Amino acid sequence: MKILVTGGLGFIGSHTVVELQNAGYEVVIIDDLSNASESVLDGIEAITSTRPVFEKLDLRDRNAVSAFFKKHADVEGVIHFAASKAVGESVHKPLLYYENNLSSLVYLLQELTAKPEASFIFSSSCTVYGQADELPITENAPVKPAESPYGNTKQIGEEIIRDTAHKFEDFKAIALRYFNPIGAHQSTEIGELPLGVPQNLVPFITQTAAGLREELSVFGNDYPTRDGTCVRDYIHVVDLAKAHVMALTRLIEGKNKSNYEVFNLGTGTGSTVLEVIETFEKVSGVKLPYKIVDRREGDVVAAYADTEKANNELGWKSELSLADALDSAWKWEKKVRGI
Ligand code: WQD
Repeated sequence: MKILVTGGLGFIGSHTVVELQNAGYEVVIIDDLSNASESVLDGIEAITSTRPVFEKLDLRDRNAVSAFFKKHADVEGVIHFAASKAVGESVHKPLLYYENNLSSLVYLLQELTAKPEASFIFSSSCTVYGQADELPITENAPVKPAESPYGNTKQIGEEIIRDTAHKFEDFKAIALRYFNPIGAHQSTEIGELPLGVPQNLVPFITQTAAGLREELSVFGNDYPTRDGTCVRDYIHVVDLAKAHVMALTRLIEGKNKSNYEVFNLGTGTGSTVLEVIETFEKVSGVKLPYKIVDRREGDVVAAYADTEKANNELGWKSELSLADALDSAWKWEKKVRGI
């Protein structure tokens, strides 16, 4: 069965392509290479011995999207990662985010709803919850007004898919709300390749440990948490990738309870920034230079998942630990830097 993975050369996308191939799916990748390199195909092939078909394509080009689906008429499912995803950048370039993240989604859905039956997996984010009132966070937690245009594109994207599923009964969709994806494939053939200065914690940590950055800035230690730093649910990217395959298979096998479902994907455990640093130092043996600075605007104090629905209905549970993820991230960083 042929599956389209948009953004399939990206961090989570490439790891999901590997797990799709491991599960026997035929994969075709669309990527515009704005935030990924074609060489990622080599890494995927090194792991699975199967090089996915790749088509460089900008999903904002309606005609190109239509031509793709004519050429690949046998695509039966789509896992949609392709989007701009930098919270800070989205504040400075809101219209780029609304155009890129939403028009591409609409064009994909227009093609899929023209098929007799299609399965669609949407890359969403726990950012839709904002600062949840209750922890751990369940899928019933209210969606809060977005703190950034990026987060708003995830909220609006979910609403577009919900309304599409309501109209087109044969169309089936699942939105996966990720918590904080980190780590890399144990082969060190693929991993996270942030362009420029990393915005996220773990790539900044590994680049600091590799000597690319002078020191890590910890954005605030005066939060109401056990050590004053923010709490997040850090999930290994390989566990996350496997959840995508399980969600897609759920739809293909008709095990979904409705034609639009939502699942939180996290470990269910929260870790503070200082705990991440401490764990990294233990697994890497590297003393990490860091300083406490002011809070970062838009950060929530704490977010970690209630995993009951994903465990019981999706049949998925994270298996890898924070230490596993940080160890894999460090091994990947050393490989990329030739250390
Ligand atoms: C984690 C914690 C920071 C960097 C965002 C998006 C989310 C998803 C993942 C795309 C926070 C602290 C960070 C640093 C720090 N993105 N930190 N120093 O903000 O939880 O989530 O990225 O899908 O949608 O919202 O992740 O890694 O940026 O921050 O102290 O240099 O680390 O304050 O507490 P975040 P993050």
